[in-house]
Amino acid sequence: MNLDRLIHDQTPVIPTAEDHGLANRWYTDPDAWVEERDALFVRGWACLGHVSEVARPGDIVPRELMGLPLLMTRTKAGALNVFHNVCRHRGMRLADKPCEGRGRITCPYHAWSYDLDGRLRATPHIGGEKIHEIAGFDRSRWGLLPVRSAEWFGLVFVNVDGAAAPFEDVVAPLAKRWSAWSPDRFAVGGADCRWELEIQANWKLAVENYCEAYHLPMVHPGLNQYSRLGDHYNITRQGAADGPDAWFAGQGTRVYSLDRGPNRQLPTVPAVPPSLMRVGEYIALFPNVLLGIHADQAFALVLEPRAPDRTVERLFLAYVDDAAEDPAYAATRAANLEAWQQVFAEDIFAVEGMQQGRRSPGFDGGAFTPLMDAPTLVFHRWAHSRLQNGATV
Ligand code: FES
Ligand SMILES: [Fe+2]
Repeated sequence: MNLDRLIHDQTPVIPTAEDHGLANRWYTDPDAWVEERDALFVRGWACLGHVSEVARPGDIVPRELMGLPLLMTRTKAGALNVFHNVCRHRGMRLADKPCEGRGRITCPYHAWSYDLDGRLRATPHIGGEKIHEIAGFDRSRWGLLPVRSAEWFGLVFVNVDGAAAPFEDVVAPLAKRWSAWSPDRFAVGGADCRWELEIQANWKLAVENYCEAYHLPMVHPGLNQYSRLGDHYNITRQGAADGPDAWFAGQGTRVYSLDRGPNRQLPTVPAVPPSLMRVGEYIALFPNVLLGIHADQAFALVLEPRAPDRTVERLFLAYVDDAAEDPAYAATRAANLEAWQQVFAEDIFAVEGMQQGRRSPGFDGGAFTPLMDAPTLVFHRWAHSRLQNGATV
């Protein structure tokens, strides 16, 4: 794979005046939120988090997927599971915060407890005081309900309705595109590889802003000094309207710098060919994860929509082999995290400003210019294709 192939190995997308964006209600209306949750998150594969969040046996992490309570667990044997975070008895939410070193998940209501494989293990007082079993109640039928899950690039993906095409098929075009960077070589370390922020904007605006390089000169003047707008190219991958294959979009740069200034240079993936050493690609894998890859580092920004106008973003920075943990790279990691924090923080006013603009009847989906907005249009086409279902989108 070389740069030329990357630039041309994609769906050519040229926006026209006929293309229209999603209506404002998809950014502001709580009813649209539920419709969107089912169409864009529940029926396909969405990103729930990073495997490093549930790294050790006994880790339990509750997470919401557009309001649906889910739970990630790591068993003693090292398996990662995802369940609905709800007790099978009377529907109490089970975990409300991350825990570690747990052998069981105990419901805070009547104390039924489940092991981290989901099996129901104890039902205290079910037959009266101090009687913990009762005829006619078969525990083996009342384990936690599993949610279909898959792992790729260190990320945990879920398909809540269980009916989507296999994840490996869905992600195949992106996995192939990025095979030269060997995504398996990257690992996320400790606190200096993570960041979390909350924005007062719809999650889709974070995706849209990520898809384009157009705002570089205005929003990221520092970045634009060494990786200018003209150094970027569009990435557009359009799947079939209702097909299983991946849709993704974003942009790439031809002038990524491996120079760490006064800090130690980071190791690079040995397999990256010279033609890609200075390439960086920034791709939104729909619906909700923003990915970046380079020869010496990668990252994922996982979007957790909390409300139509509120989104939590979790950043995971990954380095090659042991550079994620090695103290020798601590100063480099700290400086690199700070650099990304600055870039992502610069974007906040833009997405929050667009959220405010979505309250205006003077905006009806906007314009997609022929060159700069092609990746953003791919995202809108993807959303349209899944939301249509008779609705006005
Ligand atoms: S609701 Fe969980 S034990 Fe009753
Ligand atoms: Fe930006």
